Amino acid sequence: MRHLMSPLDMTVEELDKLMTLADDIRLHPDKYAHVCDGRILATCFYEPSTRTRLSFESAMMHLGGKVLGFASADSSSAAKGESVSDTIRMISCYADICAMRHPKEGAPMVAASKSRIPVINAGDGGHQHPTQTLTDLLTIRSLKGRLGDMTIGLCGDLKFGRTVHSLINALIRYPNVKFVFISPQELRIPDYIREDVLKKNNIEFKEVVRLEEVMPELDLLYMTRVQRERFFNEEDYVRLKDFYVLDKVKMELAKQDMLVLHPLPRVNEISIEVDEDPRAKYFEQVQFGVYIRMALIITLLELEVA
Ligand code: NCD
Repeated sequence: MRHLMSPLDMTVEELDKLMTLADDIRLHPDKYAHVCDGRILATCFYEPSTRTRLSFESAMMHLGGKVLGFASADSSSAAKGESVSDTIRMISCYADICAMRHPKEGAPMVAASKSRIPVINAGDGGHQHPTQTLTDLLTIRSLKGRLGDMTIGLCGDLKFGRTVHSLINALIRYPNVKFVFISPQELRIPDYIREDVLKKNNIEFKEVVRLEEVMPELDLLYMTRVQRERFFNEEDYVRLKDFYVLDKVKMELAKQDMLVLHPLPRVNEISIEVDEDPRAKYFEQVQFGVYIRMALIITLLELEVA
């Protein structure tokens, strides 16, 4: 049985196959409308979510399956002190596959070790968010036509942003990818990413504070929100939250074919005037998230498509 904890759980070839399946789902949705008839997805969310939970639910429903679950720790037995290991043992009796989000790093991994059904990490603390990364990869591949040969700017909270950590891990496997990390000093990428992921693999990168200075060299700009819930004190958050605001003026410095992505939710880091810019692709990105999750459910359940 397979789980998905990190984007690296899949080889580049497997990811390619998954994205090709997602493309086919996008082009021929009818072919997939009953693939999950009689199957149940459990969404176990111990931390708030809109897109990830609903896109999993939408994905399962588009495949003909059903969904059950909980949307916060308060509304589950976690509030009574039940462990993740016990919860997943029960969920294994109720559902065929589970998507789990948890504020603690590694919690979905603990669940997977006790589970009789495939577990998908839907975000664990500041660690990983593999299905957002699958969404990002599919978006980039679909809109740029490739995953290598580009300079990618990641901007905002690079310290706590789990989407950033997963995306870097996944992208270093493609040829000629260069990174530009744009963040305030306090929110730089964690040391383990700099040392064990980037330097160890000889990946070209630089770290800067000012977005304007690097805008012209980027093929892709991945904006992120400052992760308020992972800060130790509110003053630091308030000081850093509006450090970057992408607006029309900054967009003028960018290449004509640069894409702007964002895992969402956006707070203030992208001004709404940018939404009209044809290079702003963050709402399209959400749609790709449904197709890739459909492909993932089919793959982990090892279902045959007629
Ligand atoms: C992200 C997350 O939960 O890490 N949201 C999402 O799943 N699209 C990003 C964020 O919350 O900032």
